[in-house]
Amino acid sequence: MFEHIPAYPGDPILSLNEDFQLDPRPNKVNLSIGIYFDDAGKLPVMDAVRRAESALLDAIGPRSYLPMAGLPLYRETAQSLVFGANSEARAAGRIATLQTIGGSGALKVGADFLRRYFPASQIWISDPSWENHRVVFEGAGLTVNTYPYYDEATGGLRFADMIDAIGRLPERSVVLLHACCHNPTGVDLSAAQWAELVPVLQRRQLIAFVDMAYQGFGAGLEEDAACVRMLAEADVPLIAANSFSKNFSLYGERCGALSVVCKNADEASRVLGQLMSTVRANYSNPPTHGARLVANVLSDTSLRASWEAELATMRERILAMRGTIHAGLAGRVDEVMRARYVAQRGMFTYTGLTESQVERLRNEHAVYVLRSGRMCVAGLNARNADYVASSIAAAVSGA
Ligand code: LMR
Repeated sequence: MFEHIPAYPGDPILSLNEDFQLDPRPNKVNLSIGIYFDDAGKLPVMDAVRRAESALLDAIGPRSYLPMAGLPLYRETAQSLVFGANSEARAAGRIATLQTIGGSGALKVGADFLRRYFPASQIWISDPSWENHRVVFEGAGLTVNTYPYYDEATGGLRFADMIDAIGRLPERSVVLLHACCHNPTGVDLSAAQWAELVPVLQRRQLIAFVDMAYQGFGAGLEEDAACVRMLAEADVPLIAANSFSKNFSLYGERCGALSVVCKNADEASRVLGQLMSTVRANYSNPPTHGARLVANVLSDTSLRASWEAELATMRERILAMRGTIHAGLAGRVDEVMRARYVAQRGMFTYTGLTESQVERLRNEHAVYVLRSGRMCVAGLNARNADYVASSIAAAVSGA
């Protein structure tokens, strides 16, 4: 019966991470998957999360089904974090927000919703984008196209080409944008560039679908969400997916949210209902544990302050590692390649390494980056950064 099923070629990120786990070499370095490791190379359990979890264990009680839309306090706190506590759209009750199974779950629920209610619309993602964007949207039946984004020659943004392409899209097209810490390139729009993009989206009557998986890892929690708030204030039709995997270090708990900003509260309640029906059709309702942790941290003054402070430390450590690898590569690779480590920001740098250099890094030095050349700089630490720099130098020179 199943003879015709072809082998799964694997996922460029998750399968590589699994290969890394199986690699027996003691000097191996994982710079592939977007996971933040601390300076000891360990996956942190954030102090606020640990404290919230201890409190929860004492009061855990029975675990019934959550509502299809998720835990109410989680939805409320997630919405506030994304749109700002004083957002006008929030006050007007015109944002439909629901808990999802991670950021990927948010994309999938949003994709199913778009496919159902905008059947003629296609989606445009950046070139390049996170590999799974195409997979999720095509899986939901949407046609996925790309707009110009990354300039390989400079390691920067092709902003004029991007604006030009978006300015010519058919009305009601969907444009997938990364709020901050662009995955995979680490190249973001400046505030001025966002301000230039907003009227183009308005004029062409496009739907902005913003993916925010790294809030807090760029410039700060508020700064990283500024573009979402700018779009909401400008009344651009807006769908926002956010994730707590990275900024709570809660990868396996799959905590995400999807928000749709509507014209008024009535529209928001109808949209929420249809999102709930999508959830019911996919997985009925989301799980409880991680959502309770996130909601309890975000709604408690002391836990929240601790979480924000620890997140700031993580952000600063990434910046410091960018400086360290940049210094370590001095005189070893050309300046255009080297400059990217400090010019780009967030968890990722698009190193400019070719596929064969990436392969050499892995095979000869046990240093794992994605085939595309994406490096997760959050996997660097004081002990491995020099080794990674000399491995890159060797892989680039072919030595
Ligand atoms: C990544 O880009 O490495 C992460 O978002 C993990 C994933 O699911 O791909």
